[in-house]
Amino acid sequence: MAHFWTMPWLLFFQFLVLIVQTRAKIPAVIIFGDSSVDSGNNNQLLTILKSNFEPYGRDFSGGEPTGRFSNGKVPGDFVSEAFGCKPTVPAYLDPSYGIKDFATGVNFASAGTGYDNATSEVLNVMPLWKELEYYKDYQKKLHKYMGFKKANKTLRDAVYLISLGTNDFMENYYLLGRRALEFNIEQYQDFLTGIARNFVNSLYSLGARKIALVGLPPMGCLPLERLQNLFHCNEKYNKVAQDFNGKLHALVTNLNKELPGIQLVYSDIYGVLLDIIQKPYRYGFENAVLACCGSGMFEMGYLCNQFNPFTCADANKYVFWDAFHPTEKTNQIVSSYFVKNVLAKFL
Ligand SMILES: *[C@@H]1O[C@H](CO)[C@@H](O)[C@H](O)[C@H]1NC(C)=O
Ligand SMILES: *[C@@H]1O[C@H](CO)[C@@H](O)[C@H](O)[C@H]1NC(C)=O
Repeated sequence: MAHFWTMPWLLFFQFLVLIVQTRAKIPAVIIFGDSSVDSGNNNQLLTILKSNFEPYGRDFSGGEPTGRFSNGKVPGDFVSEAFGCKPTVPAYLDPSYGIKDFATGVNFASAGTGYDNATSEVLNVMPLWKELEYYKDYQKKLHKYMGFKKANKTLRDAVYLISLGTNDFMENYYLLGRRALEFNIEQYQDFLTGIARNFVNSLYSLGARKIALVGLPPMGCLPLERLQNLFHCNEKYNKVAQDFNGKLHALVTNLNKELPGIQLVYSDIYGVLLDIIQKPYRYGFENAVLACCGSGMFEMGYLCNQFNPFTCADANKYVFWDAFHPTEKTNQIVSSYFVKNVLAKFL
């Protein structure tokens, strides 16, 4: 691994883009999940969990706040670009896009959601089953747009990303404690893993084959969680994330045996993110404890706004953009790592 990080990260990413583009025949990247990958679906929902205002998006092309929970692009955008598809993946609910745009990549993610239906209810966002309903709707439109034969091939050859779960634990289970009355933590992990299994099964039966199930980040090191722990990472939450990731990994192994022709990969982001957080200077960061936006301790969503005078000048020096979400630079490093690890499987 040593030689990997001695190469400047941007150069390495461009190198990946190049080799993938020359070999890939990925027609579209299709995304499900939460704010880690939402590209603007929540803008269209009656929820307070939004980010379509400044300073969100200030490093996005045109400085536009799109509803991505970052200063720039989110991982789905980088992955799409690396696979030779378009550089940003539009939100399915965004009325300024249509099936012509979505035919080469589409995003169904909704910030604040989780595997658990009860998690999406907290902030009135899209539950995971609803993301799947929209995907079915998308399939119908795609059939009409390019005909059954071509549409089915596109849906079969597309790369699917599934990235969620942090809100189930941090918001639903620990902060509100509702599910903690019904399940101990291991039971809850198993409950969520069962939902993940059903979700992958449904996608498979709808024609998807190349699917990446993304694991949890070191949740205890998010600035918001550090705030309640004298700025140290909360090791209990990190352990919960690792245990859940182990269960997702085992699920992936089993489903690859059960479902003929599926290419399911477990995508671990825990290790690379923890390395960035523990050795930020190696990646060109100066701060991995506080976020760029506001005081860096707790602001996200509406609290991270243009009237907050403390927001940092250069987000590239920070691992985190707001108290819960990485900067674009972190997203890019994690994505290039991710692409490197899924490459072998999907091409
Ligand atoms: C979540 O809600 C949907 C729609 O009501 C339902 O079909 C599904 O079974 C629920 N999931 C779980 C795990 O309860
Ligand atoms: C495409 O898929 C749909 C349903 O997913 C199926 O009904 C149809 O027969 C398929 N058509 C072709 C040409 O493969």
